[in-house]
Amino acid sequence: MSQWQPDSWRAKPIVQQPTYEDKQELSQVEKTLKSYPPLVFAAETRELFRQLGDVAEGKGFLLQGGDCAESFDEFNAPKIRDTFKVILQMAIVLTFAGRCPVTKVARMAGQYAKPRSGDFETINGVALPSYRGDIINNFEFTKEARRPDPLRMVEAYNKSASTLNLLRAFAQGGLADLHEVNRWNMAFVENNPLKDKYQDLAKRIQDSLELMSVMGINATNTPTLRETSLYTSHEALLLNYEQALTRVDTLTGNWYNCSAHMLWIGERTRQLDHAHIEFFRGIHNPVGVKVGPSMQEDELIQLIDALNPNNEAGRLTLITRMGADNLEQNLPKLLRRVKQEGRKVVWSSDPMHGNTFTSESGYKTRNFDAILREIQQFFAAHKAEGTHAGGIHLEMTGQHVTECTGGAYQIGDDDLAQAYKTQCDPRLNADQVLEMAFLVADHLKVS
Ligand code: PEP
Ligand code: CO
Repeated sequence: MSQWQPDSWRAKPIVQQPTYEDKQELSQVEKTLKSYPPLVFAAETRELFRQLGDVAEGKGFLLQGGDCAESFDEFNAPKIRDTFKVILQMAIVLTFAGRCPVTKVARMAGQYAKPRSGDFETINGVALPSYRGDIINNFEFTKEARRPDPLRMVEAYNKSASTLNLLRAFAQGGLADLHEVNRWNMAFVENNPLKDKYQDLAKRIQDSLELMSVMGINATNTPTLRETSLYTSHEALLLNYEQALTRVDTLTGNWYNCSAHMLWIGERTRQLDHAHIEFFRGIHNPVGVKVGPSMQEDELIQLIDALNPNNEAGRLTLITRMGADNLEQNLPKLLRRVKQEGRKVVWSSDPMHGNTFTSESGYKTRNFDAILREIQQFFAAHKAEGTHAGGIHLEMTGQHVTECTGGAYQIGDDDLAQAYKTQCDPRLNADQVLEMAFLVADHLKVS
């Protein structure tokens, strides 16, 4: 195999990239980003790697979630706070139910680039370049807005830095205090048949905290009760940006992509001989790759070997997104083969991307029951194959949007217009996420 360099991906075929008109401006921006400080520290990514190694060995659970696409317009503190809170609440439900550590990884502080089904979007006979995420162009349907602008990479960097700064402050500064986190919004359980069960779990968590407090274990003398670690992640799609933030770690001499702790490759850009695999093979972060329903056993082993040639536990997370109707057919054979070949991976379920459809009212949506069904089947398949259902990967927000149908509040097709805010895929809202956590918790208990 040829020598890896941060730019060796440039000699490979690549898809899902913008065409920048002014190459000089592009290279100037790359130079600027290269001179900026890294967003994360390599030692942090090694700690995440270690935790994911435990997950791969069956001793933990990965919770990954956040926006489908972060947006420059919706860049504000309440939004960051609310998503942080709901990830934490969900993690506590899962930790308590599963009696195992939950590693929290946000799709935040850099989730700005999106793969699209077509290069162009046509509205009323007018064709313009597709929206590819705020790091590339603007959502508005005008020629100027859709022009890829390299300077947006600098804005994405700055907004990622601010987001990360606030996340770190929340994680260490008191918002992650377990007593606070347990004061969740339980409104969603009203009129829900599972109400008693939900309230029972919340009460048991409360009792545990009180018992610890009586025994003298409190947030003042036990930092783990008030602090947490939240890692960041995004799809490393726009390689010009990712390369500029890839640095040699002075402690180990290894290359790390310092734009986030964990990066993943999307379903549309994981071709073995293409640029994304080339770029990913040289960075030392924990990485993920999406695995859709078309994946065959041999191809998966090749993909695993390309991304994790030393078979290190924690390096690679396979994020399966089969669709509730396809999972039973497609996942078990992959689990069996990977186990047979002794490859160490984290298996995580993305129950969102295989369950997207356009509703009668014209909104791109997902149904709560289909999402839950894919998760349930994911757990059942792992149980049957004797492998570890290691995590879930959700598109979600802490805000009260109406983008996915179903859930305890029974959001219907007619309700979607009320608060449909996503620029890309539909997300579970705060109530739906918490409800999902309780339902997933049932599976963690038995597995
Ligand atoms: C995503 O995670 O937002 C995404 C585009 O997923 P996939 O690559 O699985 O389609
Ligand atoms: Co998405």
